[in-house]
Amino acid sequence: MAEIRFASRAASIGKRPPPIVALDAIKLGGGNAFPDLLPDVSAEAADVATLFRTEALQYGPLYGLPELRQEIVRFLTEDGVTANVDNILILNGAKQALDLLLRTLVDKGDAVVVSRPTYLSALSIIRNHEASIIEIDSDEGGMKVDELEAKLRRLRAEGGKLPKLLFEVPDFHNPTGITLSEERRRTLVRLAEEFDFFILEDDPYRRLRFSGEAVAPIKSFDTNGRVIGAGTFSKILAPGIRVGWANGDPAIIGRMAALKSEGGCCPLTQRIVLDLLRSGRIAHHIAELTPVMKRHRDAMTDAFRLHLPEARFRAPDGGYFLWVELPDGVDANAVTLEAERDGVIVFPGQLSFASAPPVNFIRLAFSYCGPDQIERGVRKLCAVVRRQQTDVSAQPGQAEALSLAGRHYD
Ligand SMILES: Cc1ncc(COP(=O)(O)O)c(C=O)c1O
Repeated sequence: MAEIRFASRAASIGKRPPPIVALDAIKLGGGNAFPDLLPDVSAEAADVATLFRTEALQYGPLYGLPELRQEIVRFLTEDGVTANVDNILILNGAKQALDLLLRTLVDKGDAVVVSRPTYLSALSIIRNHEASIIEIDSDEGGMKVDELEAKLRRLRAEGGKLPKLLFEVPDFHNPTGITLSEERRRTLVRLAEEFDFFILEDDPYRRLRFSGEAVAPIKSFDTNGRVIGAGTFSKILAPGIRVGWANGDPAIIGRMAALKSEGGCCPLTQRIVLDLLRSGRIAHHIAELTPVMKRHRDAMTDAFRLHLPEARFRAPDGGYFLWVELPDGVDANAVTLEAERDGVIVFPGQLSFASAPPVNFIRLAFSYCGPDQIERGVRKLCAVVRRQQTDVSAQPGQAEALSLAGRHYD
């Protein structure tokens, strides 16, 4: 085969095909939906295919179906966000909002701020755009905005490159599960104003709250078009439906739309989502799903407490993920590889760091498996950790590097 002269952004990624996961593996890796609660949309799909056949099977409007955009505006008001139809762009999901916003605002070499750790797919998308990444540490309250402010002031004083964009998951953060306080949200908007950058507020888990009070979206504190909200039906309905949106200033939304290479998103699935929103089925689905996800979370945290009491984690108040610090000296990469051989899939924490990852974190999704499988999976995983701890030949940090850059996981 001819030698392929890859673009630099493609040269080091995607060298290996995705791993083949055993059919009976316990999947605690990606944030997939719980199969038992995937909604039956056959009636809506049949209606759309008959009543809206000519619309559903044509190219869709570039910005999305006008009625769906209108319905998203209504959905956002429930969270205290004011928008109108001109602010809304229908997308293939929230990840597409990040991709298009990067195309719109960020040139090669421009800086993007993320929390440390952050959503691993966001890191690959940002890297695809050849942006440089500024990581800001997190504590139990999420991104340390004081550290961000100090960094920005330092950069400005030294004539360094200030960021163009900040990416944040403020509610039930992926991977940490933390919700950012109102004070920190307000600080982010103030800093965006002062240092002239934009914020992408990626908020797929907001409605999946098990306990505690909701905090107003970052977008609700934005008076100057600094914040672009990204939303999705992946977590509150079904990821396969691929419908999400961006909510931003029309000047930005217009450019994001113009930079979409596939034209409008699928009108068939948009119309199905529209029907489900209008009939109240999505609200009903969220009400049914939330206590089930809480039970899954409890099964996972109980299993860790029982099988590996030294593991450190914070039980999240919502969302899909548990972020676990394994005992000192345990190599999460090695644990991940061995657990995979034992039929348990988890993600090593290193994927959530842009640089210098610590070795002993793992991310687990409690969304996909039921409580019994979760208990079994965590028990097996903890047995792997125990073996690592007693294996004197284990070299922390020396496990086969998991070359996962460029592969998107959720
Ligand atoms: C923070 C975050 N953003 C976006 C997504 C995925 O969004 P979508 O399926 O709408 O592209 C996920 C899924 O795991 C996520 O955790």
